[in-house]
Amino acid sequence: MEIDLTLNDDDVTFEAARSDTLLDVLRDNGYTGAKRGCDTGDCGFCTVIVDGEPVKSCIRPISQFDGADVETIENLGTQDDLGPVQSAFVDNAALQCGFCIPGMIMRSKVLLSENPNPDEAEIREALSENLCRCTGYEKIIDAVQDASTRMTGEADVAADGGRVPGDGACSGCDCFEGGVDE
Ligand code: FES
Ligand code: FES
Repeated sequence: MEIDLTLNDDDVTFEAARSDTLLDVLRDNGYTGAKRGCDTGDCGFCTVIVDGEPVKSCIRPISQFDGADVETIENLGTQDDLGPVQSAFVDNAALQCGFCIPGMIMRSKVLLSENPNPDEAEIREALSENLCRCTGYEKIIDAVQDASTRMTGEADVAADGGRVPGDGACSGCDCFEGGVDE
């Protein structure tokens, strides 16, 4: 069967078996950012965004998604130019093996689009269906709070993914307006 998707802002058509899941089709076509963990809908490693909502792609047949708008982590940033949620996870050391992180980041992105200033309880609730076997969750919570701060403009995100001080007290470079080149 043929499946038409808007995938990461591009119109694409994939050939798929009727028994394939959304995760199967994504990974078979090179979108390997979404991870296959449990394959039973329990871990959240495979989470992508469909029509603005987080979806566990391992348990949903591809046939349900004809015409859908799908976003994967490949759309958020590159290795050299991470998106704000990605750079917040890196800067807060919120990962070890990283296998759960694409799903965590995609679900965090939806949370922050709906609730730009979530409190800790709201973050924990939003991420409750995403498991991590490595870190515990404190640093992940810190990362989402940090991403919230960056995205609401309380701290700007530098081009290299690092943070520019909110008070503009940069020294040693002229990387942004107001910076002091010493
Ligand atoms: S791999 Fe999909 S929920 Fe675990
Ligand atoms: S960082 Fe290893 S499973 Fe989460």
